[in-house]
Amino acid sequence: MKRSIKKILVTGALGQIGTELVLALRKKYGVNNVIASDIKHKENNPLTKNGPFEILDILKLNDIEKTIEKYEIDTIFHLAAILSAVGEKDPALCWNVNMTGTLNILNSSIKYNLLRVIIPSSIAVWGKGVPKYMVPQESVLKPSSMYGVTKVAGELLCDYYVQKFGVDCRGLRYPGIISSETLPGGGTTDYAVEIFYEAVKNNYYNCFLKPETELPMMYMPDCIKATIDLAEAEFEDLKHHSDFNVAAMTFDAQTLAKEIQKHLPNFIIEYNPDYRQAIADSWPASIDDSAAREEWNWKPNYDLGAMTKDMLEKLTKKFKDGLI
Ligand code: NAD
Ligand code: SER
Repeated sequence: MKRSIKKILVTGALGQIGTELVLALRKKYGVNNVIASDIKHKENNPLTKNGPFEILDILKLNDIEKTIEKYEIDTIFHLAAILSAVGEKDPALCWNVNMTGTLNILNSSIKYNLLRVIIPSSIAVWGKGVPKYMVPQESVLKPSSMYGVTKVAGELLCDYYVQKFGVDCRGLRYPGIISSETLPGGGTTDYAVEIFYEAVKNNYYNCFLKPETELPMMYMPDCIKATIDLAEAEFEDLKHHSDFNVAAMTFDAQTLAKEIQKHLPNFIIEYNPDYRQAIADSWPASIDDSAAREEWNWKPNYDLGAMTKDMLEKLTKKFKDGLI
């Protein structure tokens, strides 16, 4: 008989994506069927107050196994990771968390015969040797950041486990994700979130990337849709597994600032590029996501205009309510 997703564990659930993914999964599968976990606890966080939550360090295999057994988990969304900017400051930590964590999840998935594991990848898999625009699905993977190295290795590891052990592991190469609920955790695309908070609060942003640095980006509702749609796709329909390109929009900081100024005409941006500029320069501007479109019907809903309007509406309300 065909198995379906029933009990979900989300690692790194208090991060930028996890916070919103857990809420969406709880809405779909039931609050008690989605166990949020993270290495830390956040006071007054709706995720930890309103549903099951476990403190779980993904470097501790024994604790992962205990959690799987306790809740009879069949599906894991593995989001715990160290992102690009933090990873360049502490490459050893980045390697350890991203690789050992991924191995622990994959090995647990064999031991407990899990139905499915979803492990995100990133635009950071790319470096030299790819075109700036519309990088194809099959492309050279030569990242120059430690984060990118772990994402390429993670993709290869996941595909190895699919082929060698029959694990159903799936992953997407997320662009920079823009969201209004939880601030990002230390990446290079974080400027595209910070700019909205600063525009609403101070009408001013000091950007750590140059004005003309174009990068692929995606609004959180599309990120959640892509993640759940891929998780629910029929295995037989997938030719790829751990490395789906997904795209939504491309812009640089000056274009984003102009879009914000349509709503906040007094908004001012200045530019002081730092070490993150080199990371951004190593990534492409746009990607070809036709494999995701063909294999599981991927299609984004938000472009730059729609995303900017929604972000400003949400953050302006939060600011007025004293929440940011
Ligand atoms: P984030 O940094 O916001 O959250 C990561 C979470 O992992 C944090 O809450 C952190 O406490 C937790 N964590 C760190 N070490 C841990 C450990 N040892 N054990 C358990 N938890 C630990 O990251 P995110 O933006 O939510 O990213 C989720 C996934 O999506 C990651 O794999 C990331 O590489 C990928 N991704 C994110 C983006 C983006 O723009 N946000 C883009 C591309 C890919
Ligand atoms: N948003 C991520 C980062 O900048 C991309 O993976 O690290």
